[in-house]
Amino acid sequence: MKILVTGGAGFIGSNFIRLLLDKHPDHEIVNFDKLTYAGNLDNLKGIEADPRYQFVHADICDAEAVGAAMAGIDAIVNFAAESHVDRSIGGPADFIQTDIYGTYVLLEAARRHNVGRYIQISTDEVYGSIRDGSFTETDRLQPSSPYSASKAGGDMQAMAYHTTFGVPTIITRSSNNFGPYQYPEKIIPLFITNMMEGKKAPLYGDGANVRDWIYVTDNCEAIDLVLHDGEVGEIYNIGGGNECDNLSITRLILAALHKDEELIERVPDRLGHDFRYSIDCSKVKKLGWAPARSFEDSLRETVDWYVGNRWWWEKIKNGEFAKYYKEQYESGNKS
Ligand code: NAD
Ligand code: TYD
Repeated sequence: MKILVTGGAGFIGSNFIRLLLDKHPDHEIVNFDKLTYAGNLDNLKGIEADPRYQFVHADICDAEAVGAAMAGIDAIVNFAAESHVDRSIGGPADFIQTDIYGTYVLLEAARRHNVGRYIQISTDEVYGSIRDGSFTETDRLQPSSPYSASKAGGDMQAMAYHTTFGVPTIITRSSNNFGPYQYPEKIIPLFITNMMEGKKAPLYGDGANVRDWIYVTDNCEAIDLVLHDGEVGEIYNIGGGNECDNLSITRLILAALHKDEELIERVPDRLGHDFRYSIDCSKVKKLGWAPARSFEDSLRETVDWYVGNRWWWEKIKNGEFAKYYKEQYESGNKS
């Protein structure tokens, strides 16, 4: 099977490529990535020389480049996206362009080239916030941020291409991922690396917001299962079953690093901040998936990974990230 993985130089995409190459000796991968600020070929170190792996540096919004990469492709897995809520509050345009228009370009390519499978990687954030209970795949979408609204737009296009043109689309909606190679703008790698540097961890609002955390390889295993055995036209929620509020996560990271609470800095809340995400994952479990990792163990391992891989994140934090972080706290994106 030859698979076009878009956004494969990002956090989840790179972990997914590693998993596919490890698990499926007969699979070939074309990694199609624009290398935005979040794309990083360091995430794929060690596999560039694999004859089953090829890298194409291009934009999913560029129909010609996408068409040129489609030769012999059996399946598309679309991870490529602008993915950070705070950046979408600062500037939604790139989100609308990549997450909606880019998805359309890939769906058109899937249609023209009759691919066997098109997997759209989406998020639980499209459902919006929920106080009690959990969302199922048939619940209505009520996204809150320009990011989640753009992802919902991509999902809608994928569903429409299935209904209208018979493109064999499947959507996965996962909860918050964490693990190695996550850009240090997201809460877990940001807080780990800030604390390692003796800097404060900026906790939004009262720290009571809840996310359901999934270790990245557990999500990648579920995507692999859906790619091979999922039913076309369906949507699968993928959650770790580890709901945790932000203050508790911060304390777990502090404990793992043997630091104290002085490093917590309360900062103004994110605009439109969703209080809680929660998804019901019985559908993907029926397909045969279950998370393999406990939250506490994988969080500790993740902390250890960032402790042992300064070479990976120091370059980022001294580069693009430094400018972003400064602007973030000067821009008034907080309430
Ligand atoms: P990321 O920001 O780490 O990586 C995104 C990748 O997409 C980067 O390599 C970037 O260069 C590439 N990219 C961006 N725009 C592109 C374009 N126009 N053309 C080609 N490549 C482009 O993101 P991530 O955290 O790995 O998330 C991957 C996918 O999973 C996204 O679709 C995201 O919405 C979804 N998702 C993420 C999470 C999470 O917790 N990180 C949770 C649920 C769903
Ligand atoms: P984030 O990692 O940005 O993921 P998402 O917003 O997509 O869920 O944020 C996770 C939670 O952590 C969210 O409730 C916002 C909060 N948060 C902070 O408190 N401080 C921070 O600096 C960041 C980036 C996030």
